Amino acid sequence: MEEPCSPVQRFRGGTITLEDRMRMHRQKPVTIWLTGLSGAGKSTIAFELERQLVAQGHACYVLDGDNVRHGLGSDLGFDPRDRHENIRRVAHVAQLMNDAGLIVIAALISPMHADRAMARGIIGAGSFIETYVSASLATCAGRDPKGLYAKALAGEIPAFTGISAPYETPVNPELVIDTASLTLSDSVARIFSYLRQHSLAVAA
Ligand code: ADX
Repeated sequence: MEEPCSPVQRFRGGTITLEDRMRMHRQKPVTIWLTGLSGAGKSTIAFELERQLVAQGHACYVLDGDNVRHGLGSDLGFDPRDRHENIRRVAHVAQLMNDAGLIVIAALISPMHADRAMARGIIGAGSFIETYVSASLATCAGRDPKGLYAKALAGEIPAFTGISAPYETPVNPELVIDTASLTLSDSVARIFSYLRQHSLAVAA
C-alpha cells in the first residue's frame, strides 16, 4: 500500500518556489476532487468549471477518469486493486500539477473511502477539496448517458460501481453537489463560492 508523502518529505530542487508559481499564476493551486457514481455529472461539472476558471484567467486542468484511463491507466481495469492504482497515479499527477501552480479538477468515481483518503494524503490535506457529486443510483441509472447501467444490469459489465461493486458515500467531504436538484450552473457556482471563500485568488 502506498505511503502518502507529506509536502516536507518531497524532494525539491531548483530555485523556483511554490510561492513564486502562485504569484505568477495569481492563484492558490488546489485539487477539486469530484467523486460520485457514473452518470452523476462529474465530467460535465469538471469541464464547465474548467471553462469558467479559464475564462477568468486561471490556469487549470481536468483529469477525467474516462480520459486518463486511455493513457496513464491504460493497463488498469476495475477490480479494487486496479482502481486503487488508478487513483494513486491520478493523485500523484494532480499533486505535481498543483506543485506547478495549476488548479486541478479530478473527476473519478473513486468509490472507496480508503482510496480517497490516500489521494488526500498524496495531494496534501490543505489542497484537497473532496466534492461529492451526489445523485442516487436510480437517478444515474435512469440517465445512463453511456448505456453502461443497462449493460451492467444485463450482466455484461462485471464489477460495475453501484450495481455489482460498492460505492462508499463520502462521510465528511468539503462539498456536496446534488445534481438531482441543482442545475449545472448552480453546481459550478457552489464550487466557485467555496474556492472564493478559501482564497482562490492570490495577490500578484
Ligand atoms: S475509478 O473507480 O477507478 O475511480 P474511473 O473514474 O477511473 O473509476 O472510471 C470510471 C469510468 O469507467 C465510468 O464513467 C465508465 O465510463 C467506465 N467504466 C467501465 N467499466 C466500469 C466499471 N466496472 N465500473 C465503473 N465504471 C466503469
